[in-house]
Order: sequence, then structure tokens, then C-alpha cells
Amino acid sequence: MKAIILFGAPGSGKGTVAERIKAVTGYIHISTGDMLRAAVKNGTAVGREAEAYMKRGELVPDEVIIKLVEERLDKGGPEDLYMFDGFPRTVPQSELLEKSLGRRGGKVTHVLFLDTPRDVLLQRLTGRRTCRKCGWNCHIVNLPPKKSGICNLCGGELYQRPDDQEATIVNRLEVYNKQTESLIARYDRQKVLVKVNSNQKVDKLVEDIRQILK
Ligand code: AP5
Repeated sequence: MKAIILFGAPGSGKGTVAERIKAVTGYIHISTGDMLRAAVKNGTAVGREAEAYMKRGELVPDEVIIKLVEERLDKGGPEDLYMFDGFPRTVPQSELLEKSLGRRGGKVTHVLFLDTPRDVLLQRLTGRRTCRKCGWNCHIVNLPPKKSGICNLCGGELYQRPDDQEATIVNRLEVYNKQTESLIARYDRQKVLVKVNSNQKVDKLVEDIRQILK
């Protein structure tokens, strides 16, 4: 069981890149943000607990996230290749992942740090639209849908995530700087961190990542 981590600030392109990498490799995409949004939509106990944190742009408590990921890994097999997106975000989460993979004879092979300037993050997040039905992401200027307001994949309605309002975005970026960015040094020490320029066309970015993973 091996894993890579897509790491970066909100809007750095983790979800966009993950979809493309998934389509051309054997990696299984695990996004804690998508798992939480599904839990909120389905009104589960996890969803009810997570919703208020997400609306404020704060991190959901580690215990909730750790349980979600453990349950997902329990369903996996020894040959699985995982691509984490939005996880880990804190030191306890990264320690849990290492222990959990270790118990299954696995490890993190690469942490791909999607490096993106702050003004680009703001432009991307304010223009992002997401499909209400299947979760597909696009951007009204950078990567527009074929038909305005309609998902390219399933024809569902595109909406603006509640945490993509400007005030919440600013809080999410602050939370990232305070609570998550410190993981960069940890992964650098472990010699698994690879910095990638995310401020370029998606196709080129995906190609750069594929070369790194070869
Ligand atoms: P989560 O869903 O993980 O959100 P995030 O980390 O804030 O990341 P985003 O989904 O906003 O951005 P992204 O990097 O995926 O960018 P995207 O590809 O969409 O988490 C949401 C919330 O859940 C958190 O705030 C927290 O409350 C909670 N949570 C989740 N995980 C947690 C955890 N582990 N611990 C605690 N709490 C947790 O791209 C953005 C836009 O840019 C899109 O419109 C896209 O089309 C466009 N774009 C992407 N790449 C490019 C490019 N190269 N060029 C031009 N445009 C681009």
C-alpha cells in the first residue's frame, strides 16, 4: 500500500490535478473535503459535526478526519496506490497516516507541494463552480464549462461552494498558513517533498507530476 499526497493551499489545484492523474494512472483518489461534503449532503452524524467548521473555513477536528480515513483504508488492499487530496492538514493527521500505512506495510512516497501565489489562489477560488450532483469542478474564466451553469460530466447544476465566498476564503488561507503550512518542513525532513509550480496550464502541471511519479 503506497500513497502520494497532493499538498497545497485552498485553490492550489489539488482536486483538479487529482481528477486528471486518476484518469491516467492507477491511483485511488481520496479527498477528505469531498468525503465531508458528501457527509453534509447526506445528513450523517459526521456531516452534522463538520458542517459548521467548514462554513467558517476552519479545520474539522482531527478525531473526525482520522476516523474517516481509517475506515476508508480498512476497505483497501495491500497493492492499493492512494492519492490523498486535502489530507493530512495537521501534524497529528500526518502521524496517523504514517502509522496507518506502516501497519499495512505501506508508506508515503511523494508529497507534491502545489506552489501557487496568493493572488492566483483568490482568483481561482472566487471563480470556481462545482457540480451539485457529481462534484466536478471548473472555473468560470480559467476552465469554463461547455454550457454556462451546467456540468460537463453529468449535466448537473453548477453552484458556488458556500466556503468560496471571499470572507471565508480569506479565513481558509489564514488557517492554511497557521495550521497546515508547517507540514512542509516535516515532509522536507523526510525527503519526500517535491515542489511543483502550480501556476501554469493544467496539462503542463499534470505532465510535470507524471514525470515525477515515473
Ligand atoms: P477541501 O475540499 O479539501 O478544500 P481546500 O483544501 O480548501 O481545497 P480546495 O478544494 O478549495 O482547492 P483545490 O486545491 O482542490 O483546488 P481546485 O482543484 O478545486 O476542504 C474543504 C473544507 O473541509 C476545509 O476548509 C475544512 O473545513 C474541511 N476539511 C477537509 N479536509 C480536512 C482535513 N484533512 N482536516 C480538517 N478539515 C478538513 O482548483 C480551484 C479552482 O482553480 C477551480 O475552479 C479550478 O478549475 C481552477 N484551477 C485549478 N488548477 C488550475 C490551473 N492550473 N490553472 C487555472 N485554473 C486552475
